[in-house]
Amino acid sequence: MRLIPYNKTHCRMLYEWRTVPLARAFSLNDSLFTYEEHKNWFEKILSSPRIMGFVLMDGVTPAAHIRFDKLENSDRYLISFASNPDLLRRGYASKLMEMAFLRPELPADAVFEAEVLPENEASLKTLLKSGFINDGRIFVNGKEILRFIKKK
Ligand SMILES: CC(C)(COP(=O)(O)OP(=O)(O)OC[C@H]1O[C@@H](n2cnc3c(N)ncnc32)[C@H](O)[C@@H]1OP(=O)(O)O)[C@@H](O)C(=O)NCCC(=O)NCCS
Repeated sequence: MRLIPYNKTHCRMLYEWRTVPLARAFSLNDSLFTYEEHKNWFEKILSSPRIMGFVLMDGVTPAAHIRFDKLENSDRYLISFASNPDLLRRGYASKLMEMAFLRPELPADAVFEAEVLPENEASLKTLLKSGFINDGRIFVNGKEILRFIKKK
């Protein structure tokens, strides 16, 4: 398996992964978006020096993806990740985590943050397995969100 950086051919696939019911249910952002909106957002991501994204490939099959958003004026990165919705529970998110944090593009002193809904059991397990620890909770629009943190 290997990780490849996001490129423009991933645009449609990531739209599909972002809009499946599972991803919508566990998204921290309730607002719906069109493909055009997603495309504009993804183009900004590809050209942003603050954001890195990688797709885990199992042979020729895209299996999962992760994005690192560097927070303004900080050495912290907010992560976001998902597996191919047709290939869940096959260990791909775990493999993604194992490989992604080793990327040389990420500074040695980087700190990673993740924000997850408490009911997102799969995501909680994935984060804990890969060394994240709970760093409290916040409430956004009355919704409880668990925060996790990990050092490289
Ligand atoms: C969270 C997500 C990435 C997990 O992907 P996955 O490839 O199915 O995960 P894995 O197969 O590597 O499993 C990781 C762990 O989660 C557990 N798990 C996976 N799906 C689960 C589920 N539906 N319920 C409970 N546990 C689950 C696995 O058993 C495994 O734990 P274990 O090794 O202790 O058995 C996937 O469910 C997803 O894409 N969800 C939607 C997007 C999302 O919520 N992203 C996170 C917020 S940024």
